[in-house]
Amino acid sequence: MIKNKGEMDMSKKLKIGILGGGGILAAHAPGFMRLKDICEVVVAETNPDRHAHIRRLLGDDVEIAGDYTEILEREDVDAVDIILPHHLHAPATIAAAKAGKPVLTEKVMARNVYECDQMIEACSRAGVSLTVCHDRRYNKDWQALKKVVDSGELGEILFWKLEHNQNVVFPEKSWVRYREFIGGGAIMSCLTHQIDSLRWYGGEIESVTSMSKVEKSRMEGESIGAIIARMQSGALALLSINWYTQSHQAPDGLWYEFNHVTGTKGEAYFMSGKGTYVKIHDNQSKLFEYDMKGEGSFVKLETDSTITGHQQCIEEWVKSLRGEDAAIVTDGTDSRKTVEVAEAAYRSEATGMVVKIPIEPQPWT
Ligand SMILES: NC(=O)c1ccc[n+]([C@@H]2O[C@H](COP(=O)([O-])OP(=O)(O)OC[C@H]3O[C@@H](n4cnc5c(N)ncnc54)[C@H](O)[C@@H]3O)[C@@H](O)[C@H]2O)c1
Repeated sequence: MIKNKGEMDMSKKLKIGILGGGGILAAHAPGFMRLKDICEVVVAETNPDRHAHIRRLLGDDVEIAGDYTEILEREDVDAVDIILPHHLHAPATIAAAKAGKPVLTEKVMARNVYECDQMIEACSRAGVSLTVCHDRRYNKDWQALKKVVDSGELGEILFWKLEHNQNVVFPEKSWVRYREFIGGGAIMSCLTHQIDSLRWYGGEIESVTSMSKVEKSRMEGESIGAIIARMQSGALALLSINWYTQSHQAPDGLWYEFNHVTGTKGEAYFMSGKGTYVKIHDNQSKLFEYDMKGEGSFVKLETDSTITGHQQCIEEWVKSLRGEDAAIVTDGTDSRKTVEVAEAAYRSEATGMVVKIPIEPQPWT
């Protein structure tokens, strides 16, 4: 499926079209700058007020086009990185596939599973790869938690708790404020980080029930939401997003993200700003005994986190484009299932019922 070395001329640098030059470019640009010996970028950004920001991140000589369709028409662009508002992820991906360009798109993959299916179908038909930048799966601290779970040291997993906390206030005209552009609200936009990580850590989700709270002064969609999920494994999970609190980056703020897992033999957590910790309840762990501090203490897992999840994801994606071995763990087919859980949560809120997965795709209305 991946258009790679066989079809691309590796004697020259890869040319990547970055579609959109807004806030998250600050996380993507360093990923491409690290790889500037093997790839170069051109950016599409319709808002000229953003051009100085783009130049600051990618250099004064970076080429900047207007609408993203201008870049798709260009033969010299090998692949695209989509960092546009959510309602444009599906149309931009489908158009890129038709132009024969492999796609990396920011989370969330699309506004619903219907759009995800159209994206998967378009890329499959064109024979180009579709990758979603769920950066947490490429982050060393989040990976450390996965290693603990996969080691079996925690025993049978019983309960997951994942949180996302921020104080989110967007200007009046921002796309984030409107259901149609964001694809709902905070659950689809950012609790999908937690849903995606839960699926990666603990396997697929069987059913969800959800409630959410809208504060119209901030946005049309929900600013606060909670999901209770039953996993196929039998474990329970509690996921929450709160866009009315302050993260650890604010003075006296609590934490941004928190992933906590409890098993029959121990527990482990990741907390933003702190790192990843594990505690084996009987203190008999082989894996962690080298730095156990005594019965019951949490042990910090030291990670080599010199590059961010975004940078690692971009590195793996570029490797895949070059036909090299690449650790892509977020292809379109997998990431679709994350959107499905968020959409199921909205259906639960709308009906007051527990919603089983899979759900029937429905076009955006
Ligand atoms: N992984 C994370 O932690 C994280 C954090 C923030 C945002 N994101 C994701 O990044 C993506 C973009 O979010 P953002 O915060 O950068 O939004 P943003 O509004 O800051 O940037 C989007 C940019 O796209 C431009 N644009 C819109 N239509 C265009 C078109 N037709 N052609 C060219 N440019 C166009 C806008 O002018 C804007 O500058 C979203 O998918 C969002 O969910 C991810």
